[in-house]
Amino acid sequence: MRWCALFSLMVAALLVTGQPQTAGAVERAEAEETARLLAKLLESGRTVIERNQSLIDDPHKGEKGFTPELFEQQLVREFQAKTGIDLAALPTAPVSIIIPPMAKELLPALVQASREVVRDAQVVINQRGIGYKNFIPATYGSQASARFSKASHVRLKQTAIQPRNPKNEPDEYEASVLNWLSGRPRAEAYVSELTEEGRTLRVVMPIYYAKDCLVCHGAPKGDLDISGYPKEGHNEGDLAGAITVTAPLSPRK
Ligand code: HEC
Repeated sequence: MRWCALFSLMVAALLVTGQPQTAGAVERAEAEETARLLAKLLESGRTVIERNQSLIDDPHKGEKGFTPELFEQQLVREFQAKTGIDLAALPTAPVSIIIPPMAKELLPALVQASREVVRDAQVVINQRGIGYKNFIPATYGSQASARFSKASHVRLKQTAIQPRNPKNEPDEYEASVLNWLSGRPRAEAYVSELTEEGRTLRVVMPIYYAKDCLVCHGAPKGDLDISGYPKEGHNEGDLAGAITVTAPLSPRK
């Protein structure tokens, strides 16, 4: 089935360019767009948690009503605002350049992983008498990407040059891109490259600090923030880290 689809794509490419395109080129475009959408979805989840932070951290309230269902509704809305794609309509949406088959399979898997993170955090979220609960965009992001990556052939990760969470330690490739980005003005674009002789697609989307982040990551450097980590002394607009996607390009089963 896949080969038929691939073959007709190659024929289409042939008609357009007059030259056969390699299967790798077709797969790269699909994987790259899927990677971009996965990173946007994780970013959307971070935004939803951020928006509900004062509710989550309210010490006077027990049941918060921030259920996995409510989270998912807000996630779907946020992702649609960021990308124009309605995840609720995804199962019946036609496969296209905008929604490649790989994205159709993996976006719902990341929604599911994200939902499970919020589900598993319900006891923590609904605790009364405690303000800060360490359920913040970064912990959501680390947990959702780990859960998603475990169940998928694609790896999603939050990373930084000097991460707080050792599980977010950059690998050699990520470290080299982060170092390259950190010396440069803010970029809205992302870095995408083939490694391992074209067998792996690496995508790195930079994240920058906004003012709100600085209560924990800003000055004075070395002082402990509310989460118990020493602040890094960053400024607004500094490179915070990245969301990265690693996707194998060899034909899937
Ligand atoms: C309440 C304090 C707090 C705020 C506010 C905060 N962070 Fe963090 N950040 C943390 C903690 C704690 C971790 C470690 C999370 C974990 O355990 O995975 C972290 C981790 C991260 C990471 C992953 C790499 C690492 O260090 O493990 C990035 C990237 C990041 N934060 C960026 C941001 C950005 C961007 C903002 C603002 C939008 C922000 N943070 C706001 C506390 C905070």
